[in-house]
Amino acid sequence: MNTKVIQNDEINAENIKEAAKVLCKGETVAFPTETVYGVGANALDEKAVAKIFVAKGRPSDNPLNVLVPSQAVAFSLAKDVPTYVEKLMNVFSPGPITYVLSSAGKVASNVTGDLSTVGVRIPNHDIALQLLNKTNLPLAAPSANVSGKPSPTTVQHVIDDMMGRVSVIIDGGPTNVGLESTVVDCTGYVPMILRSGVITKDAIQEVVGACDIAPALQMPSNKYKHYHPEVPLVLVMDDQQVNQVISDEKSLGNRVGVIAKTNEPLPRVDKVYTLGIEEDDMAVQLYDTLRSLKKADVDVVISNSFSSPIIMDRLKSAASKII
Ligand code: TXA
Ligand code: MG
Repeated sequence: MNTKVIQNDEINAENIKEAAKVLCKGETVAFPTETVYGVGANALDEKAVAKIFVAKGRPSDNPLNVLVPSQAVAFSLAKDVPTYVEKLMNVFSPGPITYVLSSAGKVASNVTGDLSTVGVRIPNHDIALQLLNKTNLPLAAPSANVSGKPSPTTVQHVIDDMMGRVSVIIDGGPTNVGLESTVVDCTGYVPMILRSGVITKDAIQEVVGACDIAPALQMPSNKYKHYHPEVPLVLVMDDQQVNQVISDEKSLGNRVGVIAKTNEPLPRVDKVYTLGIEEDDMAVQLYDTLRSLKKADVDVVISNSFSSPIIMDRLKSAASKII
């Protein structure tokens, strides 16, 4: 497939309209949102949605979330919506939060993997919103990475994974949140977090009084591997043990990388990677760092643990071993 890339400095009303036409014709377009880049297709068209699964190599029983331009469109795709959802939307949407609602059965069945629910999100990004408004369609839009790889936060990540697999890629520059949306199951009396994100349990609780966190296995995607770097990642929970783990790997003859709190050189370590200090910076940097871990440089990467739960959730998912 020939992929057209619309460069950031070339974006204008005309080529966004062209990209919207491509979506209306049932083809796929990768575009930025505030969280990560998504690969979008008409959520009402089963054949168009099928192209997303092919492009990503995604298992068909992992449902896609659907981007919508407004609360009204979100509610039109759902039924029996609890009253707390509107309160949450008034505070957090447009923004990095996906609401899992009882489906009204309007989206194509392959969007939801035949579940009775649909995940909807109003993105807070001008390009995504323009595409939604110009197509006048809900857009199924999972992260624009090959399944199992870290989500894309720059257009280069999207090009690396999706060139030749989608019709259009729109360059919107680096995404400003850097981690995927918080996914919240809103089918019960109390909202329940299925995937952590920058909108936290405390923030949700503050708006609607209560919020649960799902047991790890309740998320449809949890049985699949996520965010896997090219090089095995060992996550060390106790900082005191990092030196020992480095020694063990060196004694096996391995070239060792470390994801550390600062980028000061470390004895015996072949390459130091850093995520920054502030949680916001770490979120923006994380997937770029995971994608930059290359076999050409190191045989194994050891990560320290970090205080941010949302960063730790992703590192645990990315790790092939946790010590
Ligand atoms: O920030 C985001 O959510 C990004 C941007 C592009 O919108 N998208 C994204 O998509 O991260 P994806 O497919 O990588 O993650 C969506 C998550 C998946 O883990 C999926 O299992 C879950 O949402 N999900 C979608 N629909 C669901 C449903 N009906 N019930 C439970 N989980 C659902
Ligand atoms: Mg994803």
